[in-house]
Amino acid sequence: MSAENIETIVNLSKRRGFVFPSSDIYGGLGSSWDYGQLGVELANNIKQNWWRWLVYERDDIEGIDSSIIQNRLVWKYSGHEDTFSDPMVDCRECNSRWRADKLEKPECPNCGSKDLTEPRPFNLMFRTTMGATSAEDDPTALAYLRPETAQGIFINFLNVLNTSRRKLPFGIAQIGKSFRNEVTPGNFIFRTREFEQMEMEYFVNPEDAPRILQEWIDSFWQWFQDLGISEKNLLKYEQTDAERAHYAVRTVDILYRFFPEREDEDKQWDELMGIANRTDYDLKAHSKKPENEEGKRLNSDTTDDLSYFDPHTNKRFYPYVIEPAAGVNRTLLAVLMDAYTEKEDERGEKRVILKLKPELAPIKVAILPLKKNKDEIVEMAQKIKKDLLGSMRAVYDDTGSIGKLYARQDEIGTPFCVTVDFDSLEDDSVTVRDRDTWEQVRVNADQLKNYLQERLIKS
Ligand code: GAP
Repeated sequence: MSAENIETIVNLSKRRGFVFPSSDIYGGLGSSWDYGQLGVELANNIKQNWWRWLVYERDDIEGIDSSIIQNRLVWKYSGHEDTFSDPMVDCRECNSRWRADKLEKPECPNCGSKDLTEPRPFNLMFRTTMGATSAEDDPTALAYLRPETAQGIFINFLNVLNTSRRKLPFGIAQIGKSFRNEVTPGNFIFRTREFEQMEMEYFVNPEDAPRILQEWIDSFWQWFQDLGISEKNLLKYEQTDAERAHYAVRTVDILYRFFPEREDEDKQWDELMGIANRTDYDLKAHSKKPENEEGKRLNSDTTDDLSYFDPHTNKRFYPYVIEPAAGVNRTLLAVLMDAYTEKEDERGEKRVILKLKPELAPIKVAILPLKKNKDEIVEMAQKIKKDLLGSMRAVYDDTGSIGKLYARQDEIGTPFCVTVDFDSLEDDSVTVRDRDTWEQVRVNADQLKNYLQERLIKS
């Protein structure tokens, strides 16, 4: 089973420390969220998995980390200044604002009024100013927070190409924060104004682009399942001409069933990631070339030529780009929803188990003394925890009955609990309990690290 709705995950997150409403003590800040002690670990584990899979396990992808604030011209020539907008309408009755393309009927979802303004484009980029002047006094001070990490990769294409001596096909990967002044953020961490992306731009020969796009769609379809997400909650969706971004000729989204509670099956799904064929749009747009953008480039706007010289054919051309672009936050939400399971215990009480892949679990093992007022047991449990730290994330907990302690660890997805009891003092063994089966086995304390590591790696 998986979570019946996002609200279940909101409650679990707040109760246990995955995600908290941001600025809560001041009444919050619409749709901003802070990742707590467990959420940050889960997010890091997802990001590490993505990075390892793409950058370390393959030999054709480099990683970078570009800055969030870039020269304004990046956004001018990428097309974002002109076209990165959503159609917005205002309700004249209650003054609320809505995305016109998301309204089911032409009426205000807040008050029901049909008195709406005509849709007008609203640019989603966050504006800021660089330095001590204001944008009004000095228009050159205007800057944007990046709305996608991708452009930081395109503007570094030559840097990476020249310093790594790569040949096509090769990719550049990046993980980082992006910002969009969304008209209607919401649904917990699904749509926020500050979020994190995992993007990879894969540079290819133009004729190979359709085939390689399909390969990346298949690879990511599998990657989500390798993260523990069930295939029945995933769907591929071909974007229509009207939906595609200005730079893409084909985009396939991988959707997740984020809204299983909705009656209309079509409305249960929403975007987890997009995989696009961006053609040579971006590299050309940033290049100083006569054919570029029908002469739109200003001579004063200096740049380089981001073309590629093929040593086999002696031809120079602009590579096509295949872009798998995923959100960290939406992946984390999908992983949590899919791992959420309820089970009855022996007393018939409902128990929550978060069946996270052990690799993603924030905490790998909890050490629990069965008698907290027996010094030797506490000492042994503390020593076991200390020995495990460094090899895996381990915690010690003696703040409740053993039933409560197990329940707490099950709810946050800890794959193993280790209990230390009176017998442990005699036979130097401990009991290891499995989160998913609740089965218990006795393991010699000396063997514990190996025992756990083997099972964590195998998962
Ligand atoms: N460079 C291409 C690009 O940015 P996108 O489909 O706009 O494509 C990629 O974004 C992914 O980033 C989305 O599939 C989603 O997972 C995540 N994302 C986009 N906007 C988001 C938002 N406002 N809140 C949370 N995640 C978002």
